[in-house]
Amino acid sequence: MERPKMILAGGTGFLGQHLTRYFTLLGYRVVVLSRRAGAGQVAWNGRTLGAWAAELEGAAVVLNLAGRTVDCRYTAVNRYAITRSRTESTRVLGQAIAACQTPPPVWLNLSTATIYTDTPADEPANTEADGRIGRNFSEMVAQRWEAEFWVAATPCTRRLALRTAIVLGPDGGALPVMARLARFGLGTPQGTGRQWISWLHVLDFCRAVEFLLARPDLDGTFNLCAPQPLPNHGFNGLLDHYYRPRFHLPQPRWLLEIGAFLLGTETELVLKSRKVVPARLVQAGFRFQFPSCEQALADLVPQLP
Ligand SMILES: NC(=O)c1ccc[n+]([C@@H]2O[C@H](COP(=O)([O-])OP(=O)(O)OC[C@H]3O[C@@H](n4cnc5c(N)ncnc54)[C@H](OP(=O)(O)O)[C@@H]3O)[C@@H](O)[C@H]2O)c1
Repeated sequence: MERPKMILAGGTGFLGQHLTRYFTLLGYRVVVLSRRAGAGQVAWNGRTLGAWAAELEGAAVVLNLAGRTVDCRYTAVNRYAITRSRTESTRVLGQAIAACQTPPPVWLNLSTATIYTDTPADEPANTEADGRIGRNFSEMVAQRWEAEFWVAATPCTRRLALRTAIVLGPDGGALPVMARLARFGLGTPQGTGRQWISWLHVLDFCRAVEFLLARPDLDGTFNLCAPQPLPNHGFNGLLDHYYRPRFHLPQPRWLLEIGAFLLGTETELVLKSRKVVPARLVQAGFRFQFPSCEQALADLVPQLP
């Protein structure tokens, strides 16, 4: 029997590599769309239709991960590239699906839990139903990304927007960087340390995608994050516990601003309060393998290089 085909647009990065391994083991034939064609990859430019679009014909699922990294200074050029890489890739996938004779029955598009506004420590967590959508740059990117997804004319395809929190894995994303900082005494609160961190173990990210694919009754927007977000000081405290450095260095906001400037990044990535819960996933019956950050780090820290 022919294996179901999964199209991973922008699947060469951190999440794409985990999904490729996970769904290949489940028996899928994973086809990655990349701007750099390589083994198992099909070339696209993330903007315009081309020969790649034929790959979508009869595919079992399309999952779009394409997006320029947000780990940079928000200059005008970078803002443009961050937004465009997400909206244009989404738009052209919609056009390709619309042109299929046998369109994929399901299309998942990444979005981000950063769509919700900076949430004060004592306010309730954001759910899909009553989350407060923000209006700063990264929040607007998320809204444009999702708007492009929902306007696509793909009536025969079930659609899910995945508002994904910070994914923790041993080999990419934020965790290896944060662990390195903790090793050098920077497992201390960043800024006030009262801002919340919403996060998700990379295995639960893959499991949640599998769960959503298997449930044709589910569509719309989903928060992909663990059910137990925690404050920044709690997260750093957990990491610090693993490394027990001889010295601890404080990280006031002004120092972080200087550090971010020198490293070519933005303090928003660590100072924004992201308090999000996966209300719809929980309601649908999804069971997290790593519901608490203690459990996730106990699994991941020993795997860090
Ligand atoms: N990792 C997280 O914690 C997290 C959390 C929330 C949301 N997300 C979102 O999930 C997606 C995947 O995350 P990731 O961590 O796997 O990111 P990643 O490692 O940076 O991979 C992103 C992929 O997007 C493609 N890409 C980059 N710039 C592009 C452009 N201008 N046009 C078209 N494609 C482009 C790249 O593929 P090629 O270079 O091969 O073309 C790359 O493999 C991103 O959109 C990210 O914003 C990630």
